[in-house]
Amino acid sequence: MSITNPKELFLHELSDQLNCEQTLVGVLGTLAQEVDDQEFRSALEKHQQQTREHVQRLERAFQVLGSQPEKVTCFGAQGLKQEHDNFASKESPSKQMLTMFDTGAGEKTEHYEITAYKGLIEKAQLMGQQEVASLLQQNLQDEEWMAHTTHKIATRLAKQALAGAGV
Ligand SMILES: [Fe+2]
Ligand SMILES: [Fe+2]
Repeated sequence: MSITNPKELFLHELSDQLNCEQTLVGVLGTLAQEVDDQEFRSALEKHQQQTREHVQRLERAFQVLGSQPEKVTCFGAQGLKQEHDNFASKESPSKQMLTMFDTGAGEKTEHYEITAYKGLIEKAQLMGQQEVASLLQQNLQDEEWMAHTTHKIATRLAKQALAGAGV
């Protein structure tokens, strides 16, 4: 099917975001298991639960729009996952460096999602779809919380590591 109008494009982008969230439920579980920091692990576990709710809200948004999600692969999420997997398997990082890497990867991921949601929310509002916009807004709030939380943890871990390394 060819996409020829903004509503179809919106549904495509919403399907992409649904696939993104489904991928990230798995990635967050992997990260929560491997990181060497209790605060970061708790944040990852909490955000994994929030991400399951993101999937549900996106499914609800399709219902509100009277539509079905398309099968779309979010290559943005796949790429972020692959970067992590390559780093973990090819660079033989210490547990501490893998944990620091994961803070950076996490921040990149949240900002990717934040940008996606901001675009979707604006389009939903322009189309007069207030209920959809409000569902997406709730997801955006969780992404902003996780971006902020991960950034604080990243700064603390970097300071600790640099002090320990005598740099
Ligand atoms: Fe999300
Ligand atoms: Fe997220």
